[in-house]
Amino acid sequence: MSGADKSISAVRIGGPDAGSAFGVYIHWPFCLSKCPYCDFNSHVRREQIDEARWVRAFSAEIASTAARIAGRVVSTIFFGGGTPSLMQPKTVAAVIDAIAGGWPIAADAEITLEANPTSVEAERFRGYRAAGVNRVSLGVQALDDRALAALGRTHSTREALDAVEVARAVFDHYSFDLIYGRPEQTPEQWSRELRAALPEAGEHVSLYQLTIEPETPFAALHAAGKLRPPDEDTARILYDVTQEICGAHGLPAYEISNYARPGGECRHNLIYWRAHEYAGIGPGAHGRLDIAGDRHATATEKRPENWLARVERDGHGLVADEVLTSAETADEFLLMGLRLAEGIDTKRYTEIAGRPLEPDRIALLREHGLIETTAAGRMRVTQSGFPLLDSVIADLAA
Ligand SMILES: C[S@@+](CC[C@H](N)C(=O)[O-])C[C@H]1O[C@@H](n2cnc3c(N)ncnc32)[C@H](O)[C@@H]1O
Ligand code: SF4
Repeated sequence: MSGADKSISAVRIGGPDAGSAFGVYIHWPFCLSKCPYCDFNSHVRREQIDEARWVRAFSAEIASTAARIAGRVVSTIFFGGGTPSLMQPKTVAAVIDAIAGGWPIAADAEITLEANPTSVEAERFRGYRAAGVNRVSLGVQALDDRALAALGRTHSTREALDAVEVARAVFDHYSFDLIYGRPEQTPEQWSRELRAALPEAGEHVSLYQLTIEPETPFAALHAAGKLRPPDEDTARILYDVTQEICGAHGLPAYEISNYARPGGECRHNLIYWRAHEYAGIGPGAHGRLDIAGDRHATATEKRPENWLARVERDGHGLVADEVLTSAETADEFLLMGLRLAEGIDTKRYTEIAGRPLEPDRIALLREHGLIETTAAGRMRVTQSGFPLLDSVIADLAA
């Protein structure tokens, strides 16, 4: 373990003592094809995946994590990817059983699985529900066949909407993702697309502005001048239009890219943003574990085959396990919490950091209309501050 030389965070910010939620993230790292914009830890393999072997490895890493943080109750589980909807339902059931072997799972636990919206995958939805999954998150991405092709997606708009319909029929909760700010997309086109999408939504949608991630095919096209995302002004208009339409539809933003009816928020993702405790299982998964008053940042080996080999040898795939300093913990608390419309409890920040936020900096950001205090006394970024979130955080964290 590194970090022995660091000053240790004196205050537990998550974990059972804080009475907070505990989540388990499971990473399934395989996809049928790689989308040209995506830099998630996802891999295409020609050979058949030995799912029974993966179940054994997930179970081993779950058991070794549970041995380190006993006594938690699981409030959320999230199968992310990659494409977890390529897993057989019995694989998902076995992983949920392994989690239940490590910690009790709360009766009302939220159990989400990310799915690609193809007909083949939708056929497995009932099997996932029988396995214990109660929420799916579908990567619809666009309601426009040409845009879907440009994004390298293998499904059509019709197929995606059919998968949404199956999700609605099978699960208590579902969400879907769209990517906006796509090359050449005008605010008028996006408004039309979003207005067509929202009647299909349940209590939650995720709307991401396209990010050009380094070392992706989109980054190469962008560098060659062959892919033009919207300029800053258009991106701002796209963001504002999104807020307006979703708000009018009863799905206000509760996070910079996530929209929900009150009560429909994704409880698992709230664990990250509220800086509670979560275990990261599977290749390239990150965790935050509260052990004996220390906040541990964990990360596992990214490459699927290497992760498997490590787990089979050592019982876990950890490649990093650092104790965060109070300053690092406080920065993370700020970074994650200010993404939320509910903002942060500044008293909690002071407890973690051992000092309050700089009053002069707060005053300046307030003067510029970038932050405000809520009726509940929390500090949050304003609507007009959200597009500048990164610089607001950099200012406060410095
Ligand atoms: C783990 S990914 C994918 C889930 C699933 N495999 C799929 O593609 O449908 C989660 C979401 O991140 C979003 N995403 C991925 N790369 C992105 C990028 N470069 N810019 C904006 N959104 C992105 C997509 O909306 C995607 O659905
Ligand atoms: S967007 Fe989804 S399907 Fe496409 S490569 Fe990334 S994880 Fe795989």
